[in-house]
Amino acid sequence: MKRIVSIILAAAMLCTAALAFTSCGGSGDNKDAKKELHMATNAFFEPYEYYEGKEVVGIDAEIAKAICDKLGYELVIDDMDFDSIITAVTSGKADFGMAGMTVTDERKKSVDFTDSYTTATQVIIVPEKDAKVTDSKTLETATIGVQLGTTGDLYVSDLKKAKIERFNKGGDAVLALAQGKVDAVVIDNEPAKAFVKANKGLKILDEPFADEDYAICLAKGSELTEEINGALKELKDDGTVQKIVDKYINK
Ligand code: ARG
Repeated sequence: MKRIVSIILAAAMLCTAALAFTSCGGSGDNKDAKKELHMATNAFFEPYEYYEGKEVVGIDAEIAKAICDKLGYELVIDDMDFDSIITAVTSGKADFGMAGMTVTDERKKSVDFTDSYTTATQVIIVPEKDAKVTDSKTLETATIGVQLGTTGDLYVSDLKKAKIERFNKGGDAVLALAQGKVDAVVIDNEPAKAFVKANKGLKILDEPFADEDYAICLAKGSELTEEINGALKELKDDGTVQKIVDKYINK
């Protein structure tokens, strides 16, 4: 009798051990075990972040994915107004913001930035024909469309004689331009190219408006900044970042 009991006990123990083993051993494909990192972005900014069907793709989305893969996190992309990204990050709703976001001293007062992963310029988009704005001088007295809260917004807000129309999406500013409601749009160079391609009768002026660095923003003092900088450095050094940029921007 005693032997039977101990055999049953031993078997039970083996089973428990086996169960515990399979539930641990299976963790390779158990996604729930990975910590999620939420990226705040505004996904109407081709080629950095934009929708392909229901999925957000683009340079930022791919670099963020590569960083998360390297660090063992699961990337979750949260699309919102550009103007809300910094608040999402400072309030802890998002772990980081990545949105073709330019490093500025003003933003540095509320968030930390990683090292820059790419550069950009601000350009002026105007109608192909009979443009009222032909350079940064004629821009000074024009009606200008910008995306709310962007550096484009910031720069033209200094032009005291200009009238500024602010839109939640860069594309809406460009649409207003195509409809003749504004004289020009100031926006980042690569999205400008994508917008001009998508709307007939517009062109980009040759004279760039400002040079900028894009970086990822995080809550002040976040421990993630160092981690992300480490991964970013590796991805820059091994050519991954350049490969992703080249995939979306044909130079
Ligand atoms: N580079 C500009 C800025 O930082 C515009 C960024 C807009 N990005 C976006 N995903 N809509 O203000």
